[in-house]
Amino acid sequence: MNDVTNLVWILPDSRPEHYPGSWPLEFEERLLELYNFDYHKDLKDDVVQLFSGGVQYGFKVDLFNDSHNDYKGDAHSLPKEWTDQWKMCILDPPYTSNWSRVLYGASELLYSKYISEAVRIVKPGGFIACYHWSMVPTPDTCILTRRIFIGRDYFKKLRICMIFQKR
Ligand SMILES: C[S@@+](CC[C@H](N)C(=O)[O-])C[C@H]1O[C@@H](n2cnc3c(N)ncnc32)[C@H](O)[C@@H]1O
Repeated sequence: MNDVTNLVWILPDSRPEHYPGSWPLEFEERLLELYNFDYHKDLKDDVVQLFSGGVQYGFKVDLFNDSHNDYKGDAHSLPKEWTDQWKMCILDPPYTSNWSRVLYGASELLYSKYISEAVRIVKPGGFIACYHWSMVPTPDTCILTRRIFIGRDYFKKLRICMIFQKR
């Protein structure tokens, strides 16, 4: 078994005026720094973000245009020519199909399908970071490298970002 690093980050929570379901403040910058990306530069060729919502950096993919995305489309089925393209893929899916419908008016979610697409579009040796409310399983063609446990405001549940490396 490979070594898995567990990290704990306590971060200030996002504010009501931010995008619905947005990350705690500083999460995006800290994650990019952990993987040596300089977020002051244009990262569109290096980092892709699926379920991007209101994120700031990289190439953004979301079902809806109102999130200022670079590509409007379903994370379950991405363009064939994107295979092996990015160094890192970051995902922040709604946690259940019901939440997806209620919060965003979006359709059903299938972890096995969108995580396979995330793995496909990352270069071999690249990373897939999935932010969720539970630990999600390691895709077949990947190894688990890190888990980041994220604490926010008092009485708010922890979140977990699992980070896989594509073989
Ligand atoms: C939790 S939010 C992302 C929030 C983002 N991380 C932030 O900090 O602002 C989830 C996003 O997933 C999008 N979404 C839902 N279903 C989708 C799908 N099948 N494909 C692509 N995006 C989808 C929603 O439109 C929403 O913007």
